[in-house]
Amino acid sequence: MTLWHGRLGGTMAPELAALSVSITYDQQLALVDIAASHAHVDGLVRGGIVSSKEGEALHEALRLVGEEFSGGTFEIHPTDEDIHTAVERRVTELCGDIGAKLHTGRSRNDQVATDLRLWTRQALKDVAEDVVSLQEVLLQRALGAYGIYLPGYTHLQRAQPVLLAHHLGAHCWALSRDVERLLQSMTRLNVSPLGAGALAGSSLALSPDETAAALGFDGHFENSMDAVSDRDFVAEALFDISLLGIHLSRMGEEIVLWNSDEFGFCVLDDSYATGSSMLPQKKNADIAELARGKAGRFIGNLTGLLATLKGLPMAYNRDLQEDKEPLFDSVHQIRLVLRALAGLYATTTWNEEAMAAAADAPGAAAVDLAEFLVVNGTPFRQAHSIIGGLVAESLSSSRSLSELVRDHDLLGEEAVGLLEPGVSVNAKTTPGGAGPVPVAAQLARLEDRVSSDRALLRSLQG
Ligand code: ARG
Repeated sequence: MTLWHGRLGGTMAPELAALSVSITYDQQLALVDIAASHAHVDGLVRGGIVSSKEGEALHEALRLVGEEFSGGTFEIHPTDEDIHTAVERRVTELCGDIGAKLHTGRSRNDQVATDLRLWTRQALKDVAEDVVSLQEVLLQRALGAYGIYLPGYTHLQRAQPVLLAHHLGAHCWALSRDVERLLQSMTRLNVSPLGAGALAGSSLALSPDETAAALGFDGHFENSMDAVSDRDFVAEALFDISLLGIHLSRMGEEIVLWNSDEFGFCVLDDSYATGSSMLPQKKNADIAELARGKAGRFIGNLTGLLATLKGLPMAYNRDLQEDKEPLFDSVHQIRLVLRALAGLYATTTWNEEAMAAAADAPGAAAVDLAEFLVVNGTPFRQAHSIIGGLVAESLSSSRSLSELVRDHDLLGEEAVGLLEPGVSVNAKTTPGGAGPVPVAAQLARLEDRVSSDRALLRSLQG
């Protein structure tokens, strides 16, 4: 029997049922659907729409249905189109005629919007917690990377030496912005649509403010039509995950490079690497490649939803059912990536010698030589040209850059010292820079930021 058997005769065409069914994936909403129904029943009792005795029977049936879902014993019937239908059908089986009162003053339109907000609130909290766990690993590795330096790159050309801690810190700060964005999205979505009904509210004595408070929302909708048709929060969640995924993708690409023989900057732990079915010598960075690859999927989920939302007339349209699969998928996949990358970073061995050898290539200190000239009175443009000329000469002649520096009138022995291993990176002293002094201050701030985000997330309700 359909929910609308009074209006439409016959049975649903199998092609329609096959197209419109969502129980296969929206079962994930079971527990939030039940929580929202408990709040709704309380509202019905408060409004005198059902008696307290009836309310108790409904609560009891809802509790049992919750147990069935949690225990994996809930049986889905072929006619259970979606999770809302399934829960209501089972409640009615459990408490008889009273079950028919559960849906009073409510539509699946406000119900699904409420469920999805509750689900997304928890999901974004879970994602943010996984991000913080990855940050904690990066931070530990940064704190333990004392003295390790490598080339910093621009255009993937060696540019200037940087501390490894600084490099890892760069990723960590990007992740801090992701956590901030997730938290902001959680705040913005925390508005209850329950009570909006199909689109216009209700003639019954319902109080959306009380159900909102019971479900931990900051308040209820201002406009019932907006409440049932707004999926901004899903789009925002998908954007947050996409940008986070892009950050993880960049980290993945870097590990792929660093793990290559050409770079040789790191050695992956065997448990976080894969081999080849054919080539016995291979040790591949599949986690990093998947981190890179999943970003495409996150962006696809976001753009797919945006295209679904575009041009929808007010208010609810069935197109909106297409919001769930991309959301569920992105949340699930990003959490897999976050956890795998955390394990990879925790267990990777840095090849300090390879990093230092690449960073100590003479060209990497070229700007330090130019700054030496600046300190001694040469305008920077001229200094740049002098050092550029020496680099070109060393490349086209048999003389090394150090020899040329030693012999130059404005440079000499003291300047040659700038080309010694490790000198350049230690000379970076400006705030936020790549040398040991500013990096120590940076890491202290990063530690504060990560631990306060962790504490904030612990204190938040999902
Ligand atoms: N499963 C539907 C969804 O996800 C529930 C809402 C159905 N509402 C309706 N008017 N057909 O959107």
